[in-house]
Amino acid sequence: MRTPTLEIHLRPDQLLESLREDVRVGLTSDPKWLAPKWFYDARGSELFEEITRLPEYYPTRTERALLQQFSDEIIETATPSVIVELGSGSSEKTRLLLDAATRAGTVRTYVPQDVSITALEGAATQISAEYPGVEVHGVVSDFTDSLHHLPAGDRRMIVFLGGTLGNLVPAERAEFLAGIADVLHPGEHLLLGVGLVTDPGVLVPAYDDAAGVTAEFNRNVLRVLNNRLGANFPVENFRHVALWDAENEWIEMRLEAEREVTVEVADLGLTVRFGAGEQIRTEISAKFTVPGIRDELDRAGFVVDRTWTDEEDRFALICAARR
Ligand code: SAH
Ligand code: TRP
Repeated sequence: MRTPTLEIHLRPDQLLESLREDVRVGLTSDPKWLAPKWFYDARGSELFEEITRLPEYYPTRTERALLQQFSDEIIETATPSVIVELGSGSSEKTRLLLDAATRAGTVRTYVPQDVSITALEGAATQISAEYPGVEVHGVVSDFTDSLHHLPAGDRRMIVFLGGTLGNLVPAERAEFLAGIADVLHPGEHLLLGVGLVTDPGVLVPAYDDAAGVTAEFNRNVLRVLNNRLGANFPVENFRHVALWDAENEWIEMRLEAEREVTVEVADLGLTVRFGAGEQIRTEISAKFTVPGIRDELDRAGFVVDRTWTDEEDRFALICAARR
C-alpha cells in the first residue's frame, strides 16, 4: 500500500505562538473574540464530526446529497488532475468526488489541507488505502496564509466545502478568494460548497441543537485555552449562544459568562475579567445568495461555470473557473 506523504507548514511551536497572539488580542478587545481555527484540536475535530450527524445540522447531508447527485457533472466541468481540498477535516464527502474522478480517470493526486493534524493524518491514511490509484499528499497549514506552497499543476481544482467560506468575515473572505485566484492559472477551477440564506427557524437550530453538541463544540475553545495556555476558564459557566443576524446574513456564535468570572491565562500572564452576561464572539457562519456569491467570485477573478442547489435552496455547490 502506498503511504500518504505529509507536509507541515505549521509547526506546533508556530501554532502555539499564533494562538498566544490571537488570545492576547482577542481577550483584551471589547467586545472579546476568539478566532474559529482554535476550535479544532483533536476533541474539537471529533465534536465537529458529531455535529455533522445531528438531525438539526442540515448542511452536511444537503451538501452530501448534492455531491452524490452531481459529482460526475462537477468532474466533467473541471476535469481535474489534482484535487486540492482546503479545510478538508475528515474528507468524508470528498470520497464522492474522488469516486467520480476515478470513474472519469482524470485524477492523479489528492491534496487534503487542514490546520488540524490529527484530522488530516486520519483522513489521508484512509483515503490513500481506499484509492490506490490516487497519490495522497496532506498539507498542514492555515488556509488564510499564502497558498503558494500548494502543488503545481495545470488542471487543478481547489475544493472548499462545508460552508467553511462563511466562517470568514467579508474582508477576510475577499482576501481569501483573491489569494486562491492568485495561485490558480486561467482555466483552473474552484469548487465551493456554501450555505444559502434560508428560514431562521431552520438555520438557528443547526447551530444550537437540542442535544447540546454544538454548545460543547463552542465551549471546546475554552478547553483548548485551558490546556494549551494554562488558562483556568470555568468552562461550564459559559453558555452557548447562536443568533441569526438578519442584516449581515450570518449566524453568530458566542459564549456568555453566566456570572462574573475572573480568568488567569497563566502562560500569557494575562488576567481577563468577565461581567455577568458578558459574551465572547467565537464564530460567524455567513449564509449566501447565489447572485451574491457569484458577484464575490467575479470580483476575485473567477467566472462561475455551474451552480447546483438542493430543492429547498439551502445549500449550493458552485464551480468557478479562474479567468
Ligand atoms: N470540509 C469538512 C470540514 C469542515 S469543518 C466538511 O465539509 O465537513 C472546518 C475545517 O476547516 C476543520 O477541519 C478545521 O480544522 C479546518 N480549519 C478551520 N480553520 C482553518 C484554517 N485557518 N486553516 C486551515 N484549516 C482550517
Ligand atoms: N463550517 C461549519 C459551518 O459554518 C462550522 C460549524 C458548524 C460551526 N457548527 C458550528 C462553527 C458551531 C462553530 C460553532 O456550518
